[in-house]
Amino acid sequence: MEMLRIEGGTPLAGEVRASGAKNATLPVLAASLLLDEPLIIENVPHLEDVTTSNVLLAHMGVGVTMYDNMALAVDASTIVRCEAPYDLVKTMRASILVLGPLLARRGHADVSLPGGCAIGSRPVDIHLAGLEAMGAEITVEGGIIKARAGRLTGTRFAMESVTVTGTENLMMAATLADGDTVLENAAREPEVVDLAQCLVAMGAEIQGAGTSTIRIRGKSRLHGARHRVLPDRIETGTFLAAAVATKGIVTVSQTDPALLEATAEKLAATGARIESGSDWIRVDASAQRPRAVNIRTSPYPGFATDMQAQFCVIAAVANGTSSVTETVFENRFMHAAELERMGAMIRPEGNTLVITGQPTLTGAPVMATDLRASVSLVIAGIAASGTTDVRRVYHIDRGYECVEEKMAQLGAQIQRLPDKQPVGSTVAS
Ligand code: UD1
Repeated sequence: MEMLRIEGGTPLAGEVRASGAKNATLPVLAASLLLDEPLIIENVPHLEDVTTSNVLLAHMGVGVTMYDNMALAVDASTIVRCEAPYDLVKTMRASILVLGPLLARRGHADVSLPGGCAIGSRPVDIHLAGLEAMGAEITVEGGIIKARAGRLTGTRFAMESVTVTGTENLMMAATLADGDTVLENAAREPEVVDLAQCLVAMGAEIQGAGTSTIRIRGKSRLHGARHRVLPDRIETGTFLAAAVATKGIVTVSQTDPALLEATAEKLAATGARIESGSDWIRVDASAQRPRAVNIRTSPYPGFATDMQAQFCVIAAVANGTSSVTETVFENRFMHAAELERMGAMIRPEGNTLVITGQPTLTGAPVMATDLRASVSLVIAGIAASGTTDVRRVYHIDRGYECVEEKMAQLGAQIQRLPDKQPVGSTVAS
């Protein structure tokens, strides 16, 4: 086990590059299962979740070749096993993304149920209902989703609530279905659009990705393609939030500011100055302590739930009282208790945290509980005075490429150390 030790109190300053988006890479890797030719993927971030996906693909007999320059070639022509075992699914819930492609191309898939996780129950009922509407027969036996189908049939399916991976699973399945599929109440996240672009490069016919109605015309076969993953808007937003929490000046390059509107609006509401160009964005928060800001998470284009924990840190050091309301997940405030250990004043009221900003936080030993919660503790450690040890750092490695190197590049005093204390079980997020 490892931990991050941070000596806080330094405003972040400088420039850092955005990596490819985790939440776009994982569905694109799953899309390779629709092909019997190689899919070349560029701008792949070096993350634990990508490694887990590659292990899962290799378990199925899929060939994964890594090139320099963050590119991967995935060749599913050699697939022998259409299954995702519990050991892999439990560490990464996004493993469910293999269900639609396997079923569409091979007619059968056995995928372990993800189960509960740290940020709420996160069921997959909508994924399953959509595949059933396309003609699949699905049973759950011994914790395993067993899905069977001849060729899937195009259908009209309205998703009961907005689900990102659910939309992606069904969109991928529909590309090889017989006839047209219309997905209503679809997720509009940029990562859904990125996946659609990859599928179109593979020969799929898709309209409306990025809106709440996606139309897919099924094809009998797709072909090999090359796709470049879009920049990670959540990683970008994380560095910008860290700049505000530490009263720093940070530029993120190789990113796409157009994907960050809701985040940039709230950063500006703290009093920070925001500038951007076509592929960079800069936050200057050096002039003053951030102002309190009210946040309410919702699906894209609303304020991302994946940015909520980072804004809790801004609220914890802001001038005034902020409210942070979580509407996407039912249990995504586990960072609150850890932030309180560092001196944050937080009062929970149902799905809202009322946070009264303090002039300073103080370093403390804290425990990472899920991916975004963990990075919020790193930001808090950099903003605080004194030493913070963030334990269970494996959560951060799932979704942030070289987090300590990038933070150090911005002037943070942060180092990775062995952690000899026993830790509990892994939870997916
Ligand atoms: C994805 C992102 C994750 C982000 C989340 C919300 C990936 C790999 N992960 O997760 O980083 O935090 O979107 O933006 O892209 N739900 C159901 N039934 C279902 C599916 C979902 O009730 O079948 C509920 C969930 O419990 C949750 C809500 O819908 O309350 C949104 O979840 P969803 O959009 O599916 O999240 P993920 O796709 O798992």
